[in-house]
Amino acid sequence: MRGARPLLTLSVLALLLTGCSTTDEPPIGSATDRATVAATDSATAPPTVSASPETPTASAVPDEPELDHDSPDSLHVLVNKLHPLDPADYAPQDLHGPDLPASKAGMELREEAAGAAEDLFAAAAADGVDLTLVSAYRSYGYQQSTYGGWVERYGQAEADRISARPGYSEHQTGLAMDVGAADGACTLEQCFGDTPEGAWVAEHAAEHGWIIRYPDGAEDVTGYSPEPWHLRYVGTEAAAGVVQPGGVLETAWGFAPAPDYGPDSAP
Ligand code: DAL
Ligand code: ZN
Repeated sequence: MRGARPLLTLSVLALLLTGCSTTDEPPIGSATDRATVAATDSATAPPTVSASPETPTASAVPDEPELDHDSPDSLHVLVNKLHPLDPADYAPQDLHGPDLPASKAGMELREEAAGAAEDLFAAAAADGVDLTLVSAYRSYGYQQSTYGGWVERYGQAEADRISARPGYSEHQTGLAMDVGAADGACTLEQCFGDTPEGAWVAEHAAEHGWIIRYPDGAEDVTGYSPEPWHLRYVGTEAAAGVVQPGGVLETAWGFAPAPDYGPDSAP
């Protein structure tokens, strides 16, 4: 399943905010139409990957420690439709409640990610951009109800474009979070990418170790429609290595595209 590492890699409705639609949480009690969620505008289009005449030769490339993309406890675990968590019911042992403005109480992230989220929000606030935490760690069981809610609402094919099956969600790693604007504008909607908060996140997230995991224009690789609000923590060094070659984790880390589940995945 793994491809060659590119040289440049040196390297619902649960979220029930008033009046907001969400593609990340179970559809319980909102009448928001899917068409709102499906708007295609976004400020998060990944830059085009291009070969550089400055590309170093193999001999000039310093040794890079191999990142662990398989262990669920690794900060660099790869989770997508072809690379589920193993074990499927994995739960992190170092969950920590970040000190952040949030749309609901009790949300947690792994400890390092929680600190990095606090740094990200503080940097945004220093630039006059007020963010809110909208979703963070989700257990296998929580994701089961989230995904099941979307299947009930839109059918399996559409649900698979917007919500991960249990055991396949980055939220289950404790290293992913959904962020929104403090004023609630475009929460978990495509138009979040066009808000000042969404634009700030797209520009600065990597400086704090976060990447936009499902960028616009990458559904054939990531398997999910764009989510300008869904951030994945990988650390600052790895984040820079993802953003530079085009912003898509699979491509940057040398994995095959994962547009669909494999034959072993039952919905
Ligand atoms: N919405 C993302 C893909 C998730 O459910 O993890
Ligand atoms: Zn998310």
